[in-house]
Amino acid sequence: MGMKTILVTGASRGIGLEWTRQCLERGHRLLATCRNPDNAEALSKLRESHADLLNILTLDVEDEGSVTRLFLELDKKSEPIDLLFNNAGVIDWEDMLNVSAEAVEKTYKVNVVGALLVLRAAIPCLRRSANPIVANVSSRLGSIELRGNTQLGGAIGYQCSKAALNMLTKQASIDLAPFGITVLSQSPATAGRLPAGDCCEP
Ligand SMILES: NC(=O)c1ccc[n+]([C@@H]2O[C@H](COP(=O)([O-])OP(=O)(O)OC[C@H]3O[C@@H](n4cnc5c(N)ncnc54)[C@H](OP(=O)(O)O)[C@@H]3O)[C@@H](O)[C@H]2O)c1
Repeated sequence: MGMKTILVTGASRGIGLEWTRQCLERGHRLLATCRNPDNAEALSKLRESHADLLNILTLDVEDEGSVTRLFLELDKKSEPIDLLFNNAGVIDWEDMLNVSAEAVEKTYKVNVVGALLVLRAAIPCLRRSANPIVANVSSRLGSIELRGNTQLGGAIGYQCSKAALNMLTKQASIDLAPFGITVLSQSPATAGRLPAGDCCEP
């Protein structure tokens, strides 16, 4: 596979950071976005070994102005995006009996609305690629099929947000097919692949 241009959201830590590191090692060009580049020390450190391939850019997916600003700038530079790794996300563990409206709203704002805003704003750059792909980072906790009726509790706001993200994937894959853009949901299998403590889901 030749060099691809990959835009990652939530590249400051966790899966987004590790994804960025591994893609750099494979020789891809990274547009690694995060809320606070100045505080993203581990990400900035990757510049030492990959200065030519790594661009660190500011993006807060909850802030529509931030999304618009970044993608207008990328579009102005005629940037292509071969892969959008729509990864930024938050989890809330409270179950249905305890969760607050604010916690549900927060998970939706980042995991659903944020993913939608980023995906939509990225379309002009995706259309510059010969084979553009959008990977929405979902979770098996968002799968209705995998929810057995013996499972109690659950991270209700998070699960609902990832189920909604999966519907975004489905509809976007239909709407963007005429542009040749593939949209998929991915549930990361993280166990054993991230440093201890970085894998938050059972
Ligand atoms: N880890 C797992 O076991 C697992 C399993 C299934 C699915 N997932 C999914 O995988 C994705 C990454 O999870 P993770 O475990 O790597 O989580 P994490 O370690 O908590 O990292 C979350 C990332 O999202 C970023 N983020 C949060 N709110 C943001 C916002 N408003 N704008 C931009 N970035 C924002 C964070 O940035 P800051 O540093 O600025 O906070 C951070 O980079 C999530 O979508 C999660 O739901 C994870």
